[in-house]
Amino acid sequence: MTSPLQAIVLAAGLGTRMKSRKAKVLHEAGGQALVQHVLDASESSIPATATTVVVGHQAEAVTALLKPRGCSFVSQTVQKGTGHAVAMCRDLACHEGLTVILYGDCPLLTASTITRLIDTQRAGSSAATLITTLLDNPHGYGRIIRADDGGVAAIVEEKAATSDQKSIREINSGIYCIDSALLWKHIGDIQPNPASGEIYLTDLVEILRAAGHSVAALLLEDPNEILGINQRIELAEADRILRARKTRQLMLDGVTILQPETVSIDSRVSIGQDTVVAPFTQILGNTSIGTDCFIGAGSVIRDSSIASNVVISEYCFVGTSTVDSGARIGPFSRLRQDNHVESNAHIGNFVELKKTRFGAGSKAMHLAYLGDSDIGPGVNIGAGTITCNYDGVAKHRTTIGDNVFVGSNSTLVAPLTLEASSYIAAGSVITKTVPTDALAFGRSPQTNKPGWVSRRRKKS
Ligand code: UD1
Ligand code: CA
Repeated sequence: MTSPLQAIVLAAGLGTRMKSRKAKVLHEAGGQALVQHVLDASESSIPATATTVVVGHQAEAVTALLKPRGCSFVSQTVQKGTGHAVAMCRDLACHEGLTVILYGDCPLLTASTITRLIDTQRAGSSAATLITTLLDNPHGYGRIIRADDGGVAAIVEEKAATSDQKSIREINSGIYCIDSALLWKHIGDIQPNPASGEIYLTDLVEILRAAGHSVAALLLEDPNEILGINQRIELAEADRILRARKTRQLMLDGVTILQPETVSIDSRVSIGQDTVVAPFTQILGNTSIGTDCFIGAGSVIRDSSIASNVVISEYCFVGTSTVDSGARIGPFSRLRQDNHVESNAHIGNFVELKKTRFGAGSKAMHLAYLGDSDIGPGVNIGAGTITCNYDGVAKHRTTIGDNVFVGSNSTLVAPLTLEASSYIAAGSVITKTVPTDALAFGRSPQTNKPGWVSRRRKKS
């Protein structure tokens, strides 16, 4: 049996260098909070039930965000340093096996690297293994001091480094795998840093060596993985890298993405095979898109579920909506929120839908507002149709039965029902139920006055 594994994620700091009122780990890159990425990567090796998150700044918000994962929380009310944060977990943690420590501000770390870290620690005889990398510009990171035996002798923080040490390119990532028994035995031995008064976890390296143990390093070739976010320029860089990784993975999985550097796709999005994504699109949040779809240039899709064989052409917005197979949306359509467009329906240019079911095969091809509506299959909505869903006080629903024909420029004053197969004359204002099979006129009859124009000209 392999030894038990647990994870500790440090997420208590405010992140002063972000110059934000929001805790650093809550800032988003690739469409989700930094700390979510860290947990996504660690959960492939260590279950959330064996993970403790140290929270402090905006503890409530961080806890609310992560609680659904099933991890535990420990609060560090005053942030006295990374070593102090880990020490807070002592009572809750397991004192056997291995502990993986991660910083909540390293969103680019991959699951396979965490697995490699654990495997390296298990294969060797060191007290701990830490992830390092070589940076051309190591400024701001702790530098790795190597021992003669090739192990890690110490980590020197930027502020305490001599100018010789500052030229060291190998840096500490803040990701460690430590023998749990030794961690809890020695965590209390770390003394406050004389300059800052903080308790640095990095000082544990020297303490372990002084106690006769060795500390190993796993040197990563890709320095991108351990980018720690301290300020917003790094946040933008992490966002760029996460999105580039996402489009690359989707392309490897069979999605065509045109000019991928112009496309923004959040980490949680899924897209099926042979779907084509055009330039300058944004596909965000919890969106899933099926196979053989087309997503046109400039479209933004957020938290929506798009089935297969759907065309969303240029410059559409789709928010929290469901679109069934074969439907055609756009160009220039707005599916504002909570809509369900059923199979093979067509929504055309300058049509806005809000809280509306739009039935299978129905069409609204141009210039309409359909809000709080339940529209059956086979319906035709003429250009300029408006559901008047708001009376200034409350919202009301419009129900349109199967195969109804709504003529152009109709004004449908809700609450209202147009029963199945009814027919609304163009330009009508409809305020009362239209029965099945009926034709409804809601406009004044036309009057023609013969000869009126020439009579008026003579007068002037
Ligand atoms: C830390 C490391 C440094 C490493 C770098 C990698 C230490 C002393 N230094 O520096 O060697 O190169 O990360 O990115 O560990 N946190 C708490 N409680 C605290 C302090 C911090 O939870 O009391 C959390 C923060 O929320 C953050 C993480 O720990 O998620 C790292 O803290 P941060 O202040 O960013 O450390 P660095 O100065 O970047
Ligand atoms: Ca940091």
